[in-house]
Amino acid sequence: MSVRIELLLVLIFMHVLLTSGQNQDVVYLQALMDDWQNTPPNWVGSDPCGDKWVGITCTGSRVTSITLANIDLSGELSGDIGQLSELQTLDLSYNKRLTGSLTPDIGKLKKLKTLILVGCSFNGPLPDTLGSLPQLGYLALNSNSFTGPIPPSFGNLTELYWLDLADNKLSGRIPVSDGATPGLDLLVNTKHFHFGKNKLSGEIPSQLFSSKMTLKHVLFEDNELTGTIPLTLGLVQNLEVLRLDTNRLSGEVPPNINNLISVNQLFLSNNDLNGRLPNLTGMNVLNHLDMSNNSFEASEIPLWFSSLQSLTTLMMQHTGLQGEVPVDLFSIPQIETVVLRDNKLNGTLDFGATYNTHLRLIDMSNNLISRFILGSRYSADLIFIGNPICMESEESKAYCDQPTGSNSPYSTPPSNCVPANNCSFGQVSSPKCKCSYPYTGTLSFRAPSFSDLGNSTIYTSLQSSMMDSFESNQLPVDSVSLSRPTKNKDDYLEISLEMFPSGDERFNRSGISRIAFVLSNQTYKPPHIFGPYFFIGNNYDSFADTPKGKHGSVSIGIIIGVSVGACVLVLLLIVAGLYACRQKGRAERATKKNSPFASWDPDKGNGACPQLKGARSFTFEELKTCTNNFTATTNIGVGGYGMVYRGTLPNGQLVAIKRAQHHSTQGGLQFKTEIELLSRVHHKNVVSLVGFCFDEDEQMLVYEYIVNGTLKDSLSGRSGFRLDWMRRLKIIVGAARGLQYLHDLADPPIIHRDIKTTNILLDERLNAKVSDFGLSKPMGDVDRTHVTTQVKGTMGYMDPEYYMTQQLTEKSDVYSFGIVMLELITARNPIEKGRYIVREVKEAMDKEKDMYNLGEVLDPIIGLNTQLQGLERFVDIALRCVEDTGNQRPRMSEVVKEIENIMELAGINPNDESTSTSASYEGKSKGHDHPYLNQSLFTYSGGLLPSSADGK
Ligand SMILES: *[C@@H]1O[C@H](CO)[C@@H](O)[C@H](O)[C@H]1NC(C)=O
Ligand SMILES: *[C@@H]1O[C@H](CO)[C@@H](O)[C@H](O)[C@H]1NC(C)=O
Ligand SMILES: *[C@@H]1O[C@H](CO)[C@@H](O)[C@H](O)[C@H]1NC(C)=O
Ligand SMILES: *[C@@H]1O[C@H](CO)[C@@H](O)[C@H](O)[C@H]1NC(C)=O
Ligand SMILES: *[C@@H]1O[C@H](CO)[C@@H](O)[C@H](O)[C@H]1NC(C)=O
Repeated sequence: MSVRIELLLVLIFMHVLLTSGQNQDVVYLQALMDDWQNTPPNWVGSDPCGDKWVGITCTGSRVTSITLANIDLSGELSGDIGQLSELQTLDLSYNKRLTGSLTPDIGKLKKLKTLILVGCSFNGPLPDTLGSLPQLGYLALNSNSFTGPIPPSFGNLTELYWLDLADNKLSGRIPVSDGATPGLDLLVNTKHFHFGKNKLSGEIPSQLFSSKMTLKHVLFEDNELTGTIPLTLGLVQNLEVLRLDTNRLSGEVPPNINNLISVNQLFLSNNDLNGRLPNLTGMNVLNHLDMSNNSFEASEIPLWFSSLQSLTTLMMQHTGLQGEVPVDLFSIPQIETVVLRDNKLNGTLDFGATYNTHLRLIDMSNNLISRFILGSRYSADLIFIGNPICMESEESKAYCDQPTGSNSPYSTPPSNCVPANNCSFGQVSSPKCKCSYPYTGTLSFRAPSFSDLGNSTIYTSLQSSMMDSFESNQLPVDSVSLSRPTKNKDDYLEISLEMFPSGDERFNRSGISRIAFVLSNQTYKPPHIFGPYFFIGNNYDSFADTPKGKHGSVSIGIIIGVSVGACVLVLLLIVAGLYACRQKGRAERATKKNSPFASWDPDKGNGACPQLKGARSFTFEELKTCTNNFTATTNIGVGGYGMVYRGTLPNGQLVAIKRAQHHSTQGGLQFKTEIELLSRVHHKNVVSLVGFCFDEDEQMLVYEYIVNGTLKDSLSGRSGFRLDWMRRLKIIVGAARGLQYLHDLADPPIIHRDIKTTNILLDERLNAKVSDFGLSKPMGDVDRTHVTTQVKGTMGYMDPEYYMTQQLTEKSDVYSFGIVMLELITARNPIEKGRYIVREVKEAMDKEKDMYNLGEVLDPIIGLNTQLQGLERFVDIALRCVEDTGNQRPRMSEVVKEIENIMELAGINPNDESTSTSASYEGKSKGHDHPYLNQSLFTYSGGLLPSSADGK
């Protein structure tokens, strides 16, 4: 110990000697570090420039740029920042634990050009002194908790190009100049006013706008602005996006608003605007128009609507419209969405012969429509709820239900490779199918010009433009993946983004910060149709460079310590003690991890310790964290033996966690069966096990989370998507391949024993995944033809031969699969009101007639827009699967082949893995039962009674 202290003292004196008279900025950087935790591990020594500290850029020996975005920096930004007098760029974005108010000393940075503090937790008022940064061009303070008014001094920022203050708690009026004080009207070089999601109040000053302004984006949505829209707005000729929605604006819309002929997106909704509907003739590049929920005078739909030839989206909910809907509204070339609900439109709605095929949604709810004429190629969602037509005509009933909405489950597909299923904990398979730790976050587009979220072309263009930008900025990104596009309540389009590292499997701090800067500084520009965006990064906790704590501050702390030497000794002793304790804890945890089954007790009847391949063992603590301590909100249901939770792993991956109740001994054997089997099977049509937990008396299984629920839910309409014939074929071929894999390719082969529609899950691209192995049996090597077991399974799906002989073969699965095939086309339960599906089909069938005369028993939704090509062959193979004896039934490989043939007949490429299925998919998930709720895993499944899931 004493040797250590001496060594330290020597180091300290050397340090003091070295720092004196050297790089002046290092002192201030070290002072900043004093208020920060989690600074980069290489921030040591006294030469930030020469030693290339992460995030620091120098010119000569002076610091000119600090970019430390998204490295989980925490603490406050101290006034010492003001001493870095050569600083030009400061980006501390996405450090959610950076807090405190913004120091007025920032105003001393006279050379500052770029100040970006997006998505931190700064609060308090914006300092006046920000207005005295003569070179400031880029100011982004959005998504913090700043309060108080916008300082008038901002009007002095004559070089300002970008001003983003959105998503804070700013209040008060928008400041304009008055001779004595400056104001925002002086910002004639600024292109972006992003002030949305604050509490700004008062009128929009008419002085704010003039023909000198060069604004492109004026985003004032979701504030508390009152009064009228100023006439001067019509003078801002360069305007491209205007959002004034969700305020308290009143009065007439100024008639000169149609001077704004470059505007692509116009939002005036959710105000109290009155008078006549504005005449927007001439706004020929307008894509998105939303004037919903205002108090306009009653009027007919103006003829000029149809003259807006670039319109994709027309939102006119509750705007006093009456009379008939003009037929040419639906032939606008790009139109995707028309919402005219809550008006008094009447008479006949005629879509005309030339209505547009891009149409995805027409919402006519709560009008007075009494008739409609549909075109034949019509495929959009059409909603007529609350119109007289719903009481009169039978044919229209289909359009009088709550719609399925427009959820779009897009997700970047893998590019020409098979995704790796067995990535280890925290890793994700990239689009190039490499396991690594992605950097994730959310891209939010504040005013996209399109509304069809299901068009995958759009995302492909976003993805490739992003890769182009990353490449030209030489960032260490291998690939990016986009998923889950949704509109949030502010009508922003949000897309989850995953960026995968190139080379190594992890990013280092410098890599993340540089990527984050390209997004926070808007260096990356998405295709024009996406409009203004911002990015919020998630914490990255898999850094390649590990943190070592507060180096700089340790050295400063010890300098003080020298004068009070005794304190140091005490301190060191305490630290050493703490360190030893921690190491011990770590060691214990590590031992546990190495032997997850340390507490496995073979005498409890659970058999020998499980043999695992690939599945990860989680500690109880880890799963507790990722489910927020198993809070009620993450609970997605109750199964027979315990709860099912949804969790998010540190890398952002969603998982479903089945947690057995304490003391449930019966579950032990099934628990073991399922992890042993699942950890061995890897196939894209089989649900993959992410890991398990056998810790502190807990038994849990961690699965990939399959978003679209069970096939059963989809067939019964509970999931909210419409399954047409094509989709059903794609689903069934997937399920068949999954089962064939288990039978023919898994080693040892596996008989599932509980194939049913509740055990087939659908992912975001409607790929089928076979799940639930609680009852499965591996086939022993000795006896590959059958195993004799106690009969288990689910009534209605169970092979009668197996039931009678107790001899289990793969053909029992084939039987169950046959039942699933029949359920797929009829959407009936295997046993419904005492009638068996096989008999129903056989009785209705007449092979002489078209479609075997099965029209009566088919699910009416199946053929809504399509011909059922190949249905007869489908029924033939399904009925062969349910032959009485196993010998007469085909093998799964034969079933797969035949379904593939049928798909080709129906014009679908059976090997097409593209997203076409989901991209054109108009459904929306309503709350539906979660797939993992069925009881067969943790329950003893007696099998001779219909289980609750099937008994409805
Ligand atoms: C704005 O700039 C003017 C002239 O450069 C200066 O006199 C004034 O004090 C500044 N106002 C603020 C609030 O910084
Ligand atoms: C709208 O404005 C255009 C051109 O300014 C004009 O020709 C047209 O008559 C106006 N329409 C209405 C309904 O006022
Ligand atoms: C539709 O409403 C308009 C205006 O309210 C009215 O003049 C017209 O007679 C109505 N047409 C029908 C077919 O009810
Ligand atoms: C998808 O978007 C692209 C680009 O915006 C467009 O050209 C294409 O027509 C769209 N496809 C559909 C089916 O709407
Ligand atoms: C920030 O982005 C802009 C483009 O929007 C670019 O011109 C500028 O050079 C970037 N700043 C830095 C420091 O790279």
